[in-house]
Amino acid sequence: MNIIRVPGYEQMSRKAAECILSVLNQAGSPVLGLATGSTPKGLYAELILDHQKNGTSYKQVTTINLDEYIGLPVSDPNSYHSFMEQHLFCHLDVLPSNTHLPNGETADVKKECDRYEALIDQHPIDIQVLGIGQNGHIGFNEPGTPFGRTTHITALTSSTRQANARFFPSIEDVPKQAITMGIASIMKSRNILLLASGFKKAEAIKRLFSGEISEAFPASVLHHHPHVTILADDEALSSAT
Ligand code: F6R
Repeated sequence: MNIIRVPGYEQMSRKAAECILSVLNQAGSPVLGLATGSTPKGLYAELILDHQKNGTSYKQVTTINLDEYIGLPVSDPNSYHSFMEQHLFCHLDVLPSNTHLPNGETADVKKECDRYEALIDQHPIDIQVLGIGQNGHIGFNEPGTPFGRTTHITALTSSTRQANARFFPSIEDVPKQAITMGIASIMKSRNILLLASGFKKAEAIKRLFSGEISEAFPASVLHHHPHVTILADDEALSSAT
């Protein structure tokens, strides 16, 4: 694991953007694996700034997101489709047909999982951006998820629903299920960039660095991946050192 320590959120976001831009400059038709949540918002703002200032084009770029809630319409402001549109896609020249998220609105969710996994196989991800849950989840792979799982339906733990409740009118409105890339799907990515910022992530980062590899702590699978960069700020690293 390559560990990059930065003072704070702004520097993390800038450095993350540098990592993504270097992949965009190397690959002819790059495939970016993207995440939602608070952590990558600064990264996306940096990519937008770069697009506006330097004209980096996304016309050849394909994006594949980690996850989406089940039961929220795509157009719901809290859907991950809406999040990506608002925080990234509508500001870039990426082709809408090249941006992919699981469809949590479909009647046959199981079939959607199979379709999504086939999509990942057709478009191998050059770099996958990850956040980390306080319980070590990556994507919505909660503790106990077998490392061999591909895209699947998952029940969100109450701690994850609590953590995401800040975006919804009340905790009852937070969906109980999601479609997520599995751990095996994430591990297919050529490179992985895990971002962590703030004291809230300090215990998870400490546990990640402890060397334990266990399905009880999903992010620990990353020790098995040959090209992982952990980009974390001082607060997130405060318990690890
Ligand atoms: C988001 C995702 C989640 C988040 C994680 C951290 O697509 O898959 O694993 O990365 O819950 O969320 P934040 O960044 O809001 O702390």
